[in-house]
Amino acid sequence: MTRAIATINLKGGVGKTTTTAAVGEFLAAEFGQRVLLIDLDPQTNLTTMMIGEHRWQQLNDVGLTLGALFLEAVDPRGQYFDIDKAIQIDASPVNAVRGVDLLASSLDLIEIQEGLTYRQYRDPYATWPVELLLNVVSPVLPRYDYVLIDCPPNLGMLTLNGLRLAQGYIVPTIPDILSTYGIPQLQSRVASFAHRTGHGIKELGLVITKYRAASSLHRAVIEQLQRDERIANVIPAWVPEANQIAAAAECVDHRTLRGKYGAGEQFEELRNLTEDILLTSRVLL
Ligand SMILES: Nc1ncnc2c1ncn2[C@@H]1O[C@H](COP(=O)(O)OP(=O)(O)O)[C@@H](O)[C@H]1O
Ligand SMILES: [Mg+2]
Repeated sequence: MTRAIATINLKGGVGKTTTTAAVGEFLAAEFGQRVLLIDLDPQTNLTTMMIGEHRWQQLNDVGLTLGALFLEAVDPRGQYFDIDKAIQIDASPVNAVRGVDLLASSLDLIEIQEGLTYRQYRDPYATWPVELLLNVVSPVLPRYDYVLIDCPPNLGMLTLNGLRLAQGYIVPTIPDILSTYGIPQLQSRVASFAHRTGHGIKELGLVITKYRAASSLHRAVIEQLQRDERIANVIPAWVPEANQIAAAAECVDHRTLRGKYGAGEQFEELRNLTEDILLTSRVLL
């Protein structure tokens, strides 16, 4: 069975994309899982991390990014979206990582998503505008153990498409005051969307990112989050702030995950985080 997990937070810059990429690569290389990464953010960061800007442009020109999928829905002149061709096999730039595929995003989605919003506005009871991704991805799901969906920092139509496909979600957050603000609102919006569409979306947990051990504020905020009964779970592995994790955003060849993310603490924490997500996601389905 396939487990689909969305990465969401209404804030940008909190490590959503970095976490999604790393967890995908660790799931495949360290735990032997078959992974599909779906980049729903028009900023295309996950896409360029995996395949670089040049390759993205080539795919986009021939309609093999998610831009084409959503365009097809809002513009009759859009071309037919071919999911099998669009999936990029073994997309990770790390040689040792096999089994991480990618559905690329598109900068064109900035405009296309407005067309989708307009259609939903004209017909508020229509369900198809949030089911486009689910419908196109469903036939390929049996090929994967995990589908990780990187969402833009809002609850617009693209994120709702991601949530419609997902059975669970994680919320990456920097453990400081402004980054953690608004998480209960996010949870309740997801819960009401799940209710409206009649399918459960389970909160798997908060992922602590860019953790600085020397910061007493970070410690205090994490303790507060752990005590907060509105938050189901603070995942025990915390991702440290590290230059090498930031540098992982560049699409350059690496031989191994240790080469990409750093051999010491960073590798261990990212591996632990991935294992925690594997364990908590067992409840899905
Ligand atoms: N653990 C980390 N240590 C250092 N830099 C990080 C870490 N996680 C993310 N970053 C950097 O922080 C910025 C925002 O991260 P990103 O994953 O793009 O966030 P989001 O997807 O939430 O906008 C990027 O420049 C990224 O490289
Ligand atoms: Mg991002």
